[in-house]
Amino acid sequence: MLRRLHHDQPDSFAFTPANQAWAEAQITKYPEGRQASAVIPLLWRAQEQEGWLTRPAIEYVADFLGMAYIRVLEVASFYFMFQLQPVGSVAHIQVCGTTTCMICGAESLMDVCREKIAPKPHELSADGKFSWEEVECLGACANAPMAQIGKDYYEDLTKDRFAEILDELAAGEVPVPGPQNGRYSSEPKAGLVALTEFESGRTQYNASAARAVEIGDTIKRIDGTEVPLRAPWQGKTEAAGDVAVAEVDEQEPEILSAARDGGADDLKLLKGVGPKLEGMLNDLGIYHYDQIAAWTAAEIAWVDARLAFKGRIERDGWIEQARQLAAGEETEFAKRAKDDKIYE
Ligand code: FES
Repeated sequence: MLRRLHHDQPDSFAFTPANQAWAEAQITKYPEGRQASAVIPLLWRAQEQEGWLTRPAIEYVADFLGMAYIRVLEVASFYFMFQLQPVGSVAHIQVCGTTTCMICGAESLMDVCREKIAPKPHELSADGKFSWEEVECLGACANAPMAQIGKDYYEDLTKDRFAEILDELAAGEVPVPGPQNGRYSSEPKAGLVALTEFESGRTQYNASAARAVEIGDTIKRIDGTEVPLRAPWQGKTEAAGDVAVAEVDEQEPEILSAARDGGADDLKLLKGVGPKLEGMLNDLGIYHYDQIAAWTAAEIAWVDARLAFKGRIERDGWIEQARQLAAGEETEFAKRAKDDKIYE
């Protein structure tokens, strides 16, 4: 299967402040000079945050780890666990199509996906809520056929039960994962024949399903509200709230009714600004690098609130980049953006 970057990409990517703290903790696991070893966990976190891996996310991780973009793209495009195209806003369904599941009815589950989601894998449903794909053995063959939905396994599926699960998810519910045919775990269908003494001490669900119910994040995007964010040797288990961006009162920066003579600056030369964001900035009356370079913390807060992506201006370093560009210097990103030959 040819795995390429999706044709329609967002302007930018940034970890949430909590995910950023988590990522910084991850790279402390590796010796100096070996931070690139964290590439897979960081790409995975980016995917968990957004649902799929965008080009800006790949570039963000590359910058974060000091790696060439192509090296990170190689990793992202090699492993099938990385989704290189948008996935359903509610869930991406992964149906196992390997031997045991195939014998036990995986094809009928994929028929459900074709009917209820989209005729082909990796296509979004009409409402954008779901996408699906066939995957190789997920290691739950004793409970075939099965599908992974979000972070959990739904096992012992039938066509009808699977269709119901999709309906429940579409209605905003999250069905309990695990076996769907009354089995507790992977014991014989007719009941236990060994270790029967443990039957009476069972909890409501098997350990995996119970844990999934307890955490409740089966289809949730990971935004860093999960703990711990720090590595154990950093001494402290930090909650997401501890890394929240400090609140600052907003103040309107200098805005213009139109670009000055000579025309607007190319704001896309600022890392993190694409055509959409540039349009939004222009609509706010921001056209020039020197306007951005002069922003105070209160003015950043004003712009942040209107662009609805708190913290990104600081994380992407707009002010310093704008200062350099306003002074006629060229930033590393501006050079690359002008060439724009990174993935061609
Ligand atoms: S064959 Fe489907 S989980 Fe192994």
